[in-house]
Amino acid sequence: MENAAEKRNVVLSFVQSSGTPTIGNYFGAFKNWHDMAVENDCIFGVADLHAITVRNTPADLRRRSMEMYAWLLALGLEPEKNIVFLQSHVPEHSQLAWILNCYAQFGEASRMTQFKDKSRQHADNVNVGLFTYPILMAADILLYNADQVPVGDDQRQHLELARDIAERFNGIYGETFRVPAPYIGKKGAKILSLQEPEKKMSKSDPNTKAFISLTDPDDVIAKKIKSAVTDSEATVRYAGNKPGVNNLMTLYSCCTGKDFDAIEAEFAGRGYGDFKAAVAEAVVEELRPLRNEHERIMKDKAYIEKCASEGAQKAEYLARRTLRKVMKKVGFYQV
Ligand code: TYM
Repeated sequence: MENAAEKRNVVLSFVQSSGTPTIGNYFGAFKNWHDMAVENDCIFGVADLHAITVRNTPADLRRRSMEMYAWLLALGLEPEKNIVFLQSHVPEHSQLAWILNCYAQFGEASRMTQFKDKSRQHADNVNVGLFTYPILMAADILLYNADQVPVGDDQRQHLELARDIAERFNGIYGETFRVPAPYIGKKGAKILSLQEPEKKMSKSDPNTKAFISLTDPDDVIAKKIKSAVTDSEATVRYAGNKPGVNNLMTLYSCCTGKDFDAIEAEFAGRGYGDFKAAVAEAVVEELRPLRNEHERIMKDKAYIEKCASEGAQKAEYLARRTLRKVMKKVGFYQV
C-alpha cells in the first residue's frame, strides 16, 4: 500500500482579482479550499493575469489583487504549509500558456460558453486574451501537476479543456502532465444572482443588489437578501420553477448544514419574510469572522508582502521544473 506520507494529493485552484469576492466564490470554491487544505498539499493563487482580459485602471487592479490575496490568507489557507501566491509573480504561467496555445484547437476554444458570454458582455473589447483565457488556466493547473481542482460549476468546461490538452500533449510526447480532476462540491457549486436567479452570481455584475460581497456589512447583507427575487407561491420548498427560493435555500443549507427537507419542514406554513430573515442571519453569522480576519490582515501589509513573496518563490521552483521538462520534450535547444 502506498504510504500516505509519501504521496499526498496536490490540490490547486485560483480566483481572479476582478472584484471583491462574493458568497458565490465563498460557497462554490473557498469553503472547499479551506476544507481540502487540511489534508492535502495545496496551491492557491490570485489569477491577476486573467483579470486583464477586461479593462482595469492600474491602481484598482493592484489594490484588488492585494486584497484578494489577503482573502486567501483570511480563509486560513496556511501559507507556511501550502503555496499561496499571485500568478503574475511566476512568469512560467505565461510561458507554458504560449506553448499550450499550440496544442489547443481554435474550435475547442471557440466552444467555451464563458468566452461566448463574456464576448457578449464586453462586445467593445473581445480581445484575444479572452479567447485564450482557458489555455492560461490549463497552464496554471498543469505546471503544478495538480490532482484535484476545486471549482464552482461554471469552471467545469475549462477543466475539461485542461484535461484534453494534458492528454493530447502526453499522447504526443509521453507522460508529462498529470491529468487533473475537477472537484465540484455537491452544495453551493452554483450560487445564483439575487436579482436574476436564472444566472450565476458574479462579482462583476453591474447591479450590486444581485450579489453579496464578502465585505458587505451585516445590514447590507440583510437588505440584499430581503430584496432577493422569489416568486408568488409564498411556500418555502425546493422545486424546478422556483430558482430564487432554491437559491436562498441553498445559501441557508450551506451556512447551517441542514438539508432541503429539513429546511422545508422548518419553514412550513411560514412566509418568505420569516425565511429571508433566517437566511440573512445565517449568512451574516457565517461571514462575520472571515470579514473581521480580512480587516485584521489588511492592516499588516508587511505580512501580506512576506507571504506573497515566499509563496511566489515556492511556486516558481515547481513551475520551473515542469516548464523545463516541457521545453525539452517539445524540442527547444537548451544550453
Ligand atoms: P472566478 O474568479 O470567476 O471564481 C473563483 C471560484 O469561484 C467559483 N464561483 C462560483 N461558485 C459558485 N457560484 C458562483 N456564483 C460562483 N462564482 C464563482 C468559480 O467556479 C471558481 O472556482 N478562471 C477562474 C480562475 C482560475 C482558475 C485557474 C481556477 C484561473 N486559473 C486554475 C482553477 C484552476 C475564474 O475566473 O474563477
